[in-house]
Amino acid sequence: MTNEHWARKRQILAQLSHDKFVSGEAIAQQLQLSRMAVNQHIDAMGEYGIDIFSVKGKGYQLAAPISLIEESLLLKAIDKRCFYFNEIDSTNEFMLNHASELSAGDICISEYQSKGRGRRGRTWQSPYGHHLYASMFWRTHLQPQALMGLSLVVGCSLVSALQGLKVEGLGLKWPNDVYLDGRKLAGILIELGQPSDSQTQIVVGFGINMNMPLEQGNLIDQPWSDLSGRSGIDKTDLMANIHQQLQDDFATFEAKGLTPFIERWNNADLFIGKPVTLSMAPNEVSGICQGIDEQGGIVISTEAGNKAYIGGEISLRSTT
Ligand code: BTN
Repeated sequence: MTNEHWARKRQILAQLSHDKFVSGEAIAQQLQLSRMAVNQHIDAMGEYGIDIFSVKGKGYQLAAPISLIEESLLLKAIDKRCFYFNEIDSTNEFMLNHASELSAGDICISEYQSKGRGRRGRTWQSPYGHHLYASMFWRTHLQPQALMGLSLVVGCSLVSALQGLKVEGLGLKWPNDVYLDGRKLAGILIELGQPSDSQTQIVVGFGINMNMPLEQGNLIDQPWSDLSGRSGIDKTDLMANIHQQLQDDFATFEAKGLTPFIERWNNADLFIGKPVTLSMAPNEVSGICQGIDEQGGIVISTEAGNKAYIGGEISLRSTT
């Protein structure tokens, strides 16, 4: 869809509300459009995951709030290049495709992703305007094998940026899921560009659930949470905070490695001190979670002692 079409749709979205119905007639009048044009735009928005109730005689109502990035404010807040889209296949894919032209700290944000990707080949549901989908590019002299801890750093950065906006109830699940009230709030996907002897190109993608429409939520195969009900969280501010936090934390990581983050991580680790199972198909290990080590591995204590692992999926083990 062209930017012109999106400009119209954004005007219509600005007229719609999550709390009350707005009549198609009122929107048409306000925007000097025909009723039919309003209808068509609203129908088309369904394909982008925007859930709009339509009731004869009452009009339209958003099933879940939408919040859009204010591009001009974001550009003022961010001192790096920012590529902002209404729709894209995947912000990570965009950054990987343009890696050779990018500088460390450049970001890409989209209101909708048609092929949002998650870890382990999963899809990341990316309905228009409901959440934050972004990727930051980074270049470093560190070699890929030194980067294992970076995904944990990003988890710490997201938690700090959200705490800076007074969000309470956050936690981390190794290696890099951010939880809110015990359910997944945000996911992180780090991908590397073409390796060279002198530099590693890194794309750090993250998705944060802000206002999940139920229809989309039903497509997710694990318990999720979102920021709805946490009043006053503005998407543009959130993005700017995260960008600053990531840059500060990456500079620290490049200079000092993971050591300065261990305490931050362990303070937020949801599983520390708890009985867990780490599945590394076909094997698994069960023990007590002891947090992370200097390389970013998860330390599990069993009768044989403490051992750090660098792969696998951790889950809480029921003690009953
Ligand atoms: C996970 O599975 O937990 C990781 C999800 C990462 C999703 C984000 S959304 C922005 C960026 N672009 C993508 O295609 N994926 C990441």
